[in-house]
Formats: sequence, structure tokens, C-alpha cells
Amino acid sequence: MTLISKAMNQKINEQIANELSASYAYLAMSCVLQGMELIGLAGWFRKQSEEEREHAMKFLGYLQDVGAAVQLRAIAEPKAKFDSVVAIAESALEHEQKVTKQIHELAALAREEKDYSTESFLKYFVDEQVEELASTSRLVALAKMAGPNLLQLDGYIARTLGKDD
Ligand SMILES: [Fe+2]
Ligand SMILES: [Fe+2]
Repeated sequence: MTLISKAMNQKINEQIANELSASYAYLAMSCVLQGMELIGLAGWFRKQSEEEREHAMKFLGYLQDVGAAVQLRAIAEPKAKFDSVVAIAESALEHEQKVTKQIHELAALAREEKDYSTESFLKYFVDEQVEELASTSRLVALAKMAGPNLLQLDGYIARTLGKDD
């Protein structure tokens, strides 16, 4: 006996893989940036990667708490070739837009099913996506502003972005 529906259980299992895919994508970006000696940016993406793994674990823990089945899905190989730092930042923003849509679909399903437990659990993620969209949008703007001055961008990210996200 579980608190959540079969459909919700399945969607949350998919979301565990979605969060781990994001974690994997950010780890790949971090490695590309490390290879460019952009240590500040590499560190920021590594931290993002760790946060996405924590998100996956929160979903996993929730399924266990409500007595639902955890099924770990396959995770695709992440993109590891980018033309520029702007392209990496834009790809990160696209990931966050996609994840925001996925979270909103889960929230809509919870509301439709009158699944108050999951709706309440998801509030953290709805709020989190607002933050994630803000920080990745800012990264895109900063990367575009910096243009070829990558070292300056890298130092700026190291000094500032990590502080509030
Ligand atoms: Fe996430
Ligand atoms: Fe995220």
C-alpha cells in the first residue's frame, strides 16, 4: 500500500533519471571547462552536478518514504563537445528549462490526482527551479558580456556565482 498512484510512481522514477542526466551533463561541462583551464567555471558546474545528484536522491528518498517502488532508468551519454563557453551556458539553461517543465508536469499531475503529499513534496523543486533558471540565465548573460575575456569571466564566477547558488 503506497500513498501515491502508479502513474506518479512511474513519473518520479523518470524524474530520478532526469535529475541524474542533468548531473551527468553538468559533470561533462565541468570537465570541458577544466580542460580549458577555466577552473572557476569548472568548479561552478561541478557544484551544479552535485546538486542535481542531491535532487535525484530527494526523489528516491520520497519514493521510499511513501512505500513506492524505485526503478533506476538508463542515463544517456552526456554531450561533451561545445563550441564556446556561451554554448555551454546556453546548454545549461536549456537543461534547466526542460527540468522546470518536467517538475511542473509532476506538480500538475499531483494536483489532478489530489495527491497532497506529492504536491507538498514538490514545492521545494518548484521553488528550486526558479533559482536555477535565474542562475543559469545570469551565466549566459555574463558569458556573452565577457566575450573573449574568458579569464575575467572565470575569475568573476569564482568570486561571485558560488556565493548565492
Ligand atoms: Fe534538479
Ligand atoms: Fe538544476
